[in-house]
Formats: sequence, C-alpha cells, structure tokens
Amino acid sequence: MCSSVSSKKIFPGKLKYCWWLQTPAAVLNCHIMKKLFLLLALAVSASAMAQKFEGLAPTPPMGWNSWNTFTTNINEKLVMDMADVMVSSGMKDAGYIYLVLDDGWMAMERDSITGNLVPDPIKFPNGIKKVVDYVHSKGLKFGLYNCAGIKTCAGYPGTRGYEYQDAKQYAAWEIDYLKYDWCYTDGINAKEAYTTMSKALKAAKRPIIFSLCEWGTANPWEWAAPVGHLWRTTGDIFNCFDCIKDYGTWKSLGVTAIIDLRKNIRQYAGPDHWNDMDMMEVGHGMSVNEDRAHFTMWCMLASPLIAGNDLRHMTPETISILTNKDVIAISQDVKGIQAYLEQQVDSVDTWIKPLASNELAVCFMNRSAKPVKISYDFTKHPVNDSVSKMVVDFSKQEFSIIDVWNKKPAGNTGKVFETEVQSHDVVLIRLKPAVITPAKNKKRK
Ligand code: GLA
Repeated sequence: MCSSVSSKKIFPGKLKYCWWLQTPAAVLNCHIMKKLFLLLALAVSASAMAQKFEGLAPTPPMGWNSWNTFTTNINEKLVMDMADVMVSSGMKDAGYIYLVLDDGWMAMERDSITGNLVPDPIKFPNGIKKVVDYVHSKGLKFGLYNCAGIKTCAGYPGTRGYEYQDAKQYAAWEIDYLKYDWCYTDGINAKEAYTTMSKALKAAKRPIIFSLCEWGTANPWEWAAPVGHLWRTTGDIFNCFDCIKDYGTWKSLGVTAIIDLRKNIRQYAGPDHWNDMDMMEVGHGMSVNEDRAHFTMWCMLASPLIAGNDLRHMTPETISILTNKDVIAISQDVKGIQAYLEQQVDSVDTWIKPLASNELAVCFMNRSAKPVKISYDFTKHPVNDSVSKMVVDFSKQEFSIIDVWNKKPAGNTGKVFETEVQSHDVVLIRLKPAVITPAKNKKRK
C-alpha cells in the first residue's frame, strides 16, 4: 500500500524517504524535493556558521583614520573638513572610501539611564548621526572605533557586556565600518570576544565592515576569517622606516619591523579577510623615498590602505604617492594574494605578488642608507607559489616589464633586469605575459 511495486523496481535502494509514494513520477519529484531541501539546509547552516556580513571587503579596504595624526583631538569640524578634502584631493577617486573616527569620540560615561554610548558633547555637539550623514552625502562611508574591553585604550567606555546594544546603536547611526580594539580585556578570550561582537553586528542587520584590532597576540589570522574582514597583525605603527620603540609592556613598530614580523602569514589573507599591517604613516614625517617604499609594500602585502596623515596639508609628493592608481591597482588586484619574500640579498629584498591574468608585481626594497645597483636574472628566479598556485619558468615564458612608479616600459624578462634602488626606497615593476606575434614566432624558429 505504501510503496508501490513499480517504484521499487525503478528506484531500487532509494525508497528510504519516498517509500510512501505511489507512482514513479511522484517518487522522482520526491527525490528532487529531497535534494533541494538538503541544499537549502546546507546553505542555512553555512550562513549560520559565517558570523560576519560576507562580501564587504573583496579587496583591501581603503580610507582614512584619525588616530595617527590626531589621537583623541577629534571633532565634528575635523570630520567634515576631512570628508571634503578626501573628495577634493582625489583620494576618493583613487579609492579611499572609509572615513574612520578612532578613539576619543565618546563622553567618559555611558548614558546613566539607557546605558547607550554618548558622543562627546563638546567635540560632537550635533551627535554622530550628523557627521555620518555629512560623510555619506560626499559619497564616502563612515567608520567608528570601540574596544572589546571595559574601556578603550584611551580610557573611554568599552563595549564589554554591551555588544548587542552598541551594535544596534551603530546600525541606527548608519555606520559602515567598526574598528574594535583590545585594551582592558584581562581574562577575556579573543576569539570569543570578537565572535560575540561579530554576531551582534550581524543581528543589528546593517552591513558593517568589522576590523579586528587585537595586535596579533592570539593569532587572529588562524580563526578570524568568518568573524571579521581584516585583523591587525602587530602593535601600533609609528612614523619611522626602520625602528622599534620599546615601552616595556608594548612596542611600537616602524615600517620594516612590521614587514619582518608578519611575513609568514600570507596564506591567511584573501578577499574579504585581510592581514592588516596598520594605518599608514605616508605624509606624516618620513622622507619621500620612505613614504614611497612604505606605501608600495602595503600594496604588495595586500594590507588595507588606511591613510593616517592630515589630508588637509599634503605635499604634492604625498598626494602623488597616496593616489597613484597604478600602484593602487596592485593592492586592489582581484586575486587578493599577499606578496612573498623571494630573496634578501645584501640590503635589498625582492617581493613578488602574483596578480590576476597571470601577471606579477615585483618590488625591490632597499633597506640600506645607500643606493644599491641590482641585476636580476628572471630566468634564475622561477615562480612556484603554493598560495596562488602560480608557476612561471621565465626561461620558457617571456613577460614585458613596466616600471610602475616611473610609468614606462622597462624591457622584458628575457634580459637581465638592471636598476638602481635608492636608499629606503623601492623599484616596483609589473610583469605581463608577452604577446608573441606570429612573425616573431617564425623568426625564432
Ligand atoms: C590602540 C590601537 C591604535 C589606536 C589606539 C586608540 O593602540 O592599536 O590603532 O586605535 O589604540 O587608543
């Protein structure tokens, strides 16, 4: 009565779930429905596992953050001025979209009745929504800062215990990006704390980029891809090319110190989950060469590009570094591969970043105080990258070379590449597979 004989014959062994149907057609429909149901269940459980809003950072996020230059000296006028200059300086056109207000935007206490965060009434007399709306009206996006601990690093109210309430508040203010720090977190598990905030943001139903600022102490690259879109990999940067400042319990790091500390975690970076080497110090006190090297390396490392300088007072050199579209194209390459250190010879590093369309970016960075002449024979440096799976044997395949900063062709990989790298500077080249014309083919034969 329950399973017809004909069904059993046609679908042997498939009657477990559809045994009660009468005709082969009904059993077939039942199996199709069963498959659809399983697919739906899989999709639902996958999205339940991924806490974060997916797809908000397909390439490394670009923007500006107030901390490096202004620390807690921020206010409504500064935000509005900065939004204006992001547009007028060409930063927005170059891709810098997020204007992020770091520590210091809050009053020292939460609202005593509601427990809500309160913007500092002197710095932000018209509230946060007013500045968010202004930033949005310029075609930019707005970010805020808070902390997983009971206080922020500068001593303002932290989010510990208020995660869902604060996330709702951020959604009501229509923010687009949250940087979430790690001070005053004694005894808290980092993965749990960041997961809670990620879930709170998801529950608030506004797509907000979640930027973990845990300084790399609990190896966030190993667990944070489903939780956030970027994670800080080190302590704070400061504006020195090759220095470390030791404060006893923590250290701030110059550009090369950050590069060296985290060169072995590139396999964890990719679209929507980036290793964050910290906000940039370009235009904030280093030499032009050092700024160029710093910026180029952040692009090579697929780090978020968050400027930290005073955008209202940029030299032409600073603007031309921060807005160089050809270098930014290497950062924003859709493959999202972080560069690897191919070799260190004397004081010159060679970094290689596999790009889409079988192209490559190669950066020679000179750490020494003197210019260095280099000769690089590509045929002796094949690419065999386990992360991007890119394999190139330059003795079999030729690439044309473009000198990216100088915007000019620089030969091809068939010849030894010779150049001079200035002190604390880079030479950045982009390789494209050479088009072999039929005539050239013939000649070779
Ligand atoms: C920490 C972070 C910095 C900055 C300050 C603010 O040090 O690492 O990037 O946000 O806190 O207090």
